[in-house]
Amino acid sequence: QPTRLSDYRPPAHLIETLDLALDLRDDWTTVRATLRGRRNPAAGQGAAPIVLDGEAQELVSVTLDGERLGPNEYALEADRLTLPERDGAFELVVESRIRPQDNSALEGLYLSNGMYCTQCEAEGFRRITYFPDRPDVMAVYSVRLEADAARFPVLLSNGNPVEQGEAGAGRRYAVWHDPFPKPSYLFAAVAGDLACVEDRFVTRSGREVALRIYVEHGNEPRTGHAMDSLKRAMRWDEEVFGLEYDLDLFMIVAVSHFNMGAMENKGLNVFNSKLLLADAATATDADLQRVEAVVAHEYFHNWTGNRVTCRDWFQLSLKEGLTVFRDQQFSADMHSHGVKRVGDVRLLRSVQFAEDAGPTAHPVRPDSYIEINNFYTPTVYEKGAEVVRMIHTLLGPAGFRRGMDLYFERHDGQAVTCEDFVAAMEDANGADLSSFRLWYQQAGTPTLEADWSQDLSARSLTLRLRQSVPPTPGQPLKRPMPLPVRAALLGKAGGTVAPERVLLLDGAEASFTFEEVGEPAVPSLLRGFSAPVRLEAAWSEDDLAFLAGADDDPFGRWEALQTLATRSLLRMAEALRAGGAATLDQRIVSAFRASLADARLEPAFKAELLTLPGETLLGQASETWQVDAVHEARELARRTLGEALRDGWRQAYQALAGEEGALDTEAMGRRAFKNAALAYWVAAGDEAAVAAALAQARPDGRMTDVVAALAALSDLERPDAEAALQAFHDRWLDDPLVLDKWFALKATASRPDTLATVEALRRHPRFDRRNPNRVRALIGSFTTGNPVRFHAADGSGYAFLAQEVLALDKLNPQVAARLTQPLVRWRRFDEGRRQRMLEALRRIADEPGLSRDVFEIVSKGLA
Ligand code: ARG
Ligand code: ZN
Repeated sequence: QPTRLSDYRPPAHLIETLDLALDLRDDWTTVRATLRGRRNPAAGQGAAPIVLDGEAQELVSVTLDGERLGPNEYALEADRLTLPERDGAFELVVESRIRPQDNSALEGLYLSNGMYCTQCEAEGFRRITYFPDRPDVMAVYSVRLEADAARFPVLLSNGNPVEQGEAGAGRRYAVWHDPFPKPSYLFAAVAGDLACVEDRFVTRSGREVALRIYVEHGNEPRTGHAMDSLKRAMRWDEEVFGLEYDLDLFMIVAVSHFNMGAMENKGLNVFNSKLLLADAATATDADLQRVEAVVAHEYFHNWTGNRVTCRDWFQLSLKEGLTVFRDQQFSADMHSHGVKRVGDVRLLRSVQFAEDAGPTAHPVRPDSYIEINNFYTPTVYEKGAEVVRMIHTLLGPAGFRRGMDLYFERHDGQAVTCEDFVAAMEDANGADLSSFRLWYQQAGTPTLEADWSQDLSARSLTLRLRQSVPPTPGQPLKRPMPLPVRAALLGKAGGTVAPERVLLLDGAEASFTFEEVGEPAVPSLLRGFSAPVRLEAAWSEDDLAFLAGADDDPFGRWEALQTLATRSLLRMAEALRAGGAATLDQRIVSAFRASLADARLEPAFKAELLTLPGETLLGQASETWQVDAVHEARELARRTLGEALRDGWRQAYQALAGEEGALDTEAMGRRAFKNAALAYWVAAGDEAAVAAALAQARPDGRMTDVVAALAALSDLERPDAEAALQAFHDRWLDDPLVLDKWFALKATASRPDTLATVEALRRHPRFDRRNPNRVRALIGSFTTGNPVRFHAADGSGYAFLAQEVLALDKLNPQVAARLTQPLVRWRRFDEGRRQRMLEALRRIADEPGLSRDVFEIVSKGLA
């Protein structure tokens, strides 16, 4: 049943043009597709049957080369239509009907708040019409949309508008033409009553591009940030990669019901409204930065994804890993390289390392899948971006650019593989990346061990590096992979003793000697997190405390303090579990004190430094995740730091509390720092801190501050804190994106009654299982953002999740499968929890009629 990379065959027929007419009516949508194609010379000689993908639709008629086919002249199965053989060129007209109004899976054509929209990646197009729905079939599309003129005045598709007008009986039509051949997954159509915000961009070669953002009426004021972000992204791609936009029109549509973040359809991006609509009153600074990053990401896909696309879905990281890397570089350039890298690594570790260590581990280029939607994963995206970043590190920025230029020169207009990308990087630089290809093939996070010895009399320091790659499902034995390790030596008395070098560990182990090292030094290793590995370095805690204050690499400095804190917090958890007392290592208090007072640090970076590793990361750092002890230890540490540095937090907070908020990077950074200080000050238990938080939580403040204050208050079981949350709810009840924040705050409170609250909130009048954002806000936040309550020892959280997965699977398998993920990580826990997680998985597995999506996840979880 799985689809395998090794089974790839070129398509038997190519389709050159597709004329698609969608007649949108309340009872049915009729789809008429005219395909002009021919036998693919690369697929073999002689005639072959024409095979089209298609599901969830009613076939009306098939006309091949002018002849209407009778039912015994074709074979219709649940997921495909097989037509007579063709050798040369052919013309095919297929008519079918679909019911978008019943489509709760949100794949293909569906209705979102009364507007028609599409999501075709990966295999949604086959729910719209019969077609070879695979990315290596690229056609030129002409699309005619027709709908009721009053309710759907805006009719959009890819490319350029050609024609529009009255269609009689109160109906309107519009015709669009996209001159760029594209795979079906990049098709999009939208019909609705939408407001349009317009701007323009002049490319560096002087082409004027109209930029249009379409939103529901009333949301126009929330589009400014996305529009500005788009223009910055367009400029950046010209400056850094020499890539210009290629049509006269670029459109973005915001929809409220969307399975993922956003989609890069050619010339017509479709966005989850959560990742587009953002202003200071309704979005946090983190939301604003996320919007900027995703707008850029989807825009960047125009070259890395659309102009050069994937041959098959095993190559997904070809476009996703590369485009994530590009959006990371863009955000770093717009804001701060150090802060961005810390955030990216935090995400990588908390989600991708966890995936790599569990039963759904897979290579960046997977070998097989049951449901491709399950492979839009942190491994394909985030680890994929790390793999591209390592190439960038190995070749340097100029070499990387040469590789990109050659990649486009060779493959513009083609559907290619990850191998083609690596080959372009190699050939443009005369480099040998043969062993580097293992990064695409082997799953699992390598462990990198490092130790060193210094010989003062010989003025040298020798660093020894060793790696091992753990077994993962289906891959018991691994080969060592090339690891670029950026390293420098710092003098214990200050200064850099040996400047940064990129050491390449291209084997199981190697030694590197630094010469002319005349004073005691500490190595700064894996600077900038130059490879996605678990580093086990022989740093003493004094070394770490030293690096936490002295490393000139921002990532290294943050990492040193995180490592020190992780060690101490795990010792505390162990002591608490054994029934003893626990205290936070004094070195951490000192490091926090020094960082808090360090005026040279940028505030956003300070906020990162002063954040303790989260419970999920701490859980992953030990053999067995001791859920309750880890939670208690972290809370105790936060209290300890709150009390020990009480005046520092208060002063830092008060110094910034009155500041007028702007939207620039520095102002955002100061707010992050201020709100970190507020959280510690509240943790110290000061009544004045609670009063400050209550004042800041007033619902008409700027959203960053309100949410931060509510988060600091949400654990306190006291009436004024509860009233603050309620006031927020009442103020924003009719604003879905903000109300989602309230659902998430309720779901992530660590107070003991949270599961009961979450269960009850499923009956809240605004809870709606058909809206993925709402489901993620309430259920997803609870299962991934509240470990101590979700992993309650009695298994109540697991039983709750199983119930939700089953309810959701009937509506939206893709989102249901994602929701299931936390249950498959049962090996990380103690025996009691393991059994209860397995019970929940079995309960899901036993359900008759389970979707392919959820089936794949639970069967891997139970294997
Ligand atoms: N290509 C989109 C992106 O920019 C993701 C779309 C994934 N959609 C899905 N249903 N699997 O990352
Ligand atoms: Zn993407």
